[in-house]
Amino acid sequence: MTTILVVDDELSMREFLTILLEKEGFSTCSAADAKTAVKLVQDEKIDLVISDIRMPDMNGLELLERVKEINSALPFLMITAYASPEDAVTAMKGGAYDYITKPFKVEEIKSVIHSALSARTDSPPSVSGELKTFCGIIGNSPEMLKIFDLIKRVGKTQANVLIYGESGTGKELVAKALHSLSGDEERPFIPITCSALPETLFESELFGHVKGAFTGALAAKTGLFELANNGTAFLDEIGDLTPLIQTKLLRVIQEREFKQVGGTETVKVNVRIISATNKDLEKEVMNNTFREDLFYRVAVVPLRVPPLRERKGDVPLLVDHFLKMYSKKFNKTVQALSSYSMEVLMDYDFPGNVRELENIIERGVAIEGSNIILPESLTLSIHRKKQKKRSTAEAQQLFNEEHLSKDGLEDVMARIEKKFIEDALRKTNYSKMRAAELLKISFRSLRYKVQKYNITSPDQSGG
Ligand SMILES: Nc1ncnc2c1ncn2[C@@H]1O[C@H](COP(=O)(O)OP(=O)(O)OP(=O)(O)O)[C@@H](O)[C@H]1O
Ligand SMILES: [Mg+2]
Repeated sequence: MTTILVVDDELSMREFLTILLEKEGFSTCSAADAKTAVKLVQDEKIDLVISDIRMPDMNGLELLERVKEINSALPFLMITAYASPEDAVTAMKGGAYDYITKPFKVEEIKSVIHSALSARTDSPPSVSGELKTFCGIIGNSPEMLKIFDLIKRVGKTQANVLIYGESGTGKELVAKALHSLSGDEERPFIPITCSALPETLFESELFGHVKGAFTGALAAKTGLFELANNGTAFLDEIGDLTPLIQTKLLRVIQEREFKQVGGTETVKVNVRIISATNKDLEKEVMNNTFREDLFYRVAVVPLRVPPLRERKGDVPLLVDHFLKMYSKKFNKTVQALSSYSMEVLMDYDFPGNVRELENIIERGVAIEGSNIILPESLTLSIHRKKQKKRSTAEAQQLFNEEHLSKDGLEDVMARIEKKFIEDALRKTNYSKMRAAELLKISFRSLRYKVQKYNITSPDQSGG
């Protein structure tokens, strides 16, 4: 028997929910305050908590925190007032499965409860450290596992999600994953790039237009929002929306209806909004370039996709994935990276994130003649602050007093010089030209030193 705990300080609300739930075949218990609720969660077998957010003494958000401490897997639904989307944001961040807005729609409550309960039986991805791909997203770093977990929890709800992060981090993949978990595979997923078109054209793309709405509108056109009905509209680069479209979008989200350009009839839609941006939207809100009310509507659940340099652990998996993909595409038999190539990649900070890694591997597979990708086949952009720091630290290590007393200044300096030159060559894939630039010495002088220290590139080694 599934038991649902109802927490609300208002008796009428507790009664209303209890009757509704028991009609649905659940067993229920209720608490008039959060303290009692905590006790029940500790002592009884509870399968789901539904709690109001505004309560005297301990409020719903604090209760959520306490419940998650006791049992982090226990699904929690928050009841929020329609007027306070900020509370919903906080609740979702705190680990609530979903929120229900007042006034209730009975059907909505039922469906949210059922999906919360069924989500509970799926094993959370964080348990298996082996997990490598999730809805086509590769990764097993703790950062990505957290994201998979969040996608799993919010995917099944209808909450609007704002995905943010640097370019190339995989925001679009995350959006698709969220959509594909939202239930019916048949539901439409309509991507809309907010920066692609001038405002007036974009408006008619979004909302459609009637025949003769403007010069050139020879036939009526259905807008993307209408196509997304009962599914997901993916608003990519939402930070680029003009003020006018922002206002119109806000209205659609609030009213769930709109008019076509030039039209008089209202069109009703039920669309979940997933948006993505590589801008700092909160800052845009502060600068008044993005509407605050719209921000709260689209960012009910904010989801940050971290840059690749913050989850280097995913690099080998991604490399493997892209190697297979492009070997097949180019009909080649490239199987791996040389361990030195891998080292070079692990040291790189990927300003273009996963997309850049993908391009590096694609190019590598295309130009590599052997089965193993050697460093020469990797094309990295040249600004690599991290390595510079590392070589300085290593140089420091070479230059300690012990060495100095044993070997004398000349030898130590030579070792440091050699180390810097080797690093510069590695960073530039053994382009002496670029290495000289990096070291700020002449090409001629670099060539001389390379000979002097007998430095070889990997393909000459042994020769
Ligand atoms: N975790 C991942 N696993 C597999 N492929 C990935 C992953 N992350 C990104 N990619 C691939 O990298 C490329 C860029 O991803 P995507 O288009 O989702 O990035 P984005 O964050 O939307 O970038 P932008 O802000 O520039 O639009 C795509 O080809 C995508 O398939
Ligand atoms: Mg994108």
